[in-house]
Order: sequence, then structure tokens, then C-alpha cells
Amino acid sequence: MVSARQKACLAAMGVDVWLRRTPETDDVTPPRTRRASAASEAKPPQAETAPARRATAAVLPSVQPLLDWETLATRVSACTACELHQGRTQTVFGTGNRNAEWLIIGEAPGAEEDKRGEPFVGRAGQLLTSMLGALGLPRPQVYIANILKCRPPSNRDPKPDEVAFCEQYLFNQIALLNPRIILAVGRIAAQNLLKTQTPIGKLRGHRHAFGGQEIPVVVTYHPAYLLRSPGEKRRAWEDLLFARQVFESLPPR
Ligand code: URA
Repeated sequence: MVSARQKACLAAMGVDVWLRRTPETDDVTPPRTRRASAASEAKPPQAETAPARRATAAVLPSVQPLLDWETLATRVSACTACELHQGRTQTVFGTGNRNAEWLIIGEAPGAEEDKRGEPFVGRAGQLLTSMLGALGLPRPQVYIANILKCRPPSNRDPKPDEVAFCEQYLFNQIALLNPRIILAVGRIAAQNLLKTQTPIGKLRGHRHAFGGQEIPVVVTYHPAYLLRSPGEKRRAWEDLLFARQVFESLPPR
């Protein structure tokens, strides 16, 4: 049954029709497979059964020593490791349920996040919240963090040294959280997490893996991109359905 709230969330995403989950209608085959020509459809399906792709940095990058949540949050709030600390209002550590099964990883705080100290609270964040809600994942149920904890000036792309410093904090968060699945939101998050230069269009629709524990990673478009290109919302919704399919296929812990 689709609740009024889920319908509203889907409408906000630009997805008009909710198909009830049945074997016939719940087609979460990755978009590229679904768009395949008749000839290529003869090939075995790629998605659900495709072996997990391991990030090139195949082990959980070492965070030594592993800090507990409070110590880590304090360390982040005082961080001056890169130049971004000079322009920030405050650091944006991450938010949500520290026992969450889903970890959502974005790029970096924007102006609103820098002001409020919380990730994904601007317009893009509101869309992300709607998308997650439509998937049955209210925000308080998930954990949300970014590759960077400080806002880059004019929202420019993170520099490699900024990522190198800051990802240690994120890796510590991942180790503490031990999520069952990671949703990488946008090119910057996906490429940095998976240590690849592969374009986002090619990363979508596959189950990747992060770290030695091979935490499943699914990639989707950044909501800021979806605000600029609303026609892509449907593909993003397909990504989310694929992520849920991956999650539901995981063995119980
Ligand atoms: N974009 C992101 O990637 N992260 C945020 O927290 C806000 C906007």
C-alpha cells in the first residue's frame, strides 16, 4: 500500500506512478540493462547477480587509532588540516541514526549546511529527504555524511589533498557505523569512495563494494543535479529501487 506521504514524496521527485511491488511490476533491473536492445537483452542480466565490484582501495582504509563518536566529532570540529577550515562557519560532521543500516554519502556541505551544521538541509537536501522517504527510509532512520566536512568556496569540487585529509574522518565514521549498505550520492562521492575515475553513468546500476568488509555501495545522481535536470529523476528513482533490492538481498546479520 502506498501512503499519501510516499505519494507526495514521489510527486516531489517527479515520479508520477507508483507501481505496487509484485514480481511483474517491480523491475529494478539497472537502467542500462533495461534500455538494452533486443540483441543485447539476450545477454545474461547484469544487475542483481553481478559480483560485487571491489573498490581499488580494497581494504577499509586504516583509521588509526579508531576514535569513538564523541572524540571523532570533537576532532572534526577543531580540524585545521586543510585550507577549507579558513572559510567555514562550522564543520558538518554528519547526522542521523548511529545504528543505521543505510549510510548516505554526499560530496560536501553547501552554504545552508555550513550555516546549520547539518548535511543535506538545503534545496538538494530536501529532495534527497523526499527520495529517501519515498523509499520508506525516513531521515532519522539513516545516517548522512559527506566526503568533506567543510564547505569548499563557491561549492567548487574538493581538491585531492582535502579529500585525503577528510576521508579519514569518514572512514572512521563508516567503521563505527558498520552500515549494511552505502548510497553514494553524486559523482564526487562515488568516485572518491570507490577510488575510481569511472563516470557516474557507468557506476550506476551496479553493486560495488567498499573496504575489506565489502560493504555494498550503490551509486546515484546528486540531488543538486536532479534539480537542474529534473528529467533524470526517474533514473535516480530506479537507482534507489536497485539499492533497496541490493539491501533486501543481503543475508541477515
Ligand atoms: N550537497 C552535498 O553533497 N552534501 C550536502 O550536505 C549538501 C549538499
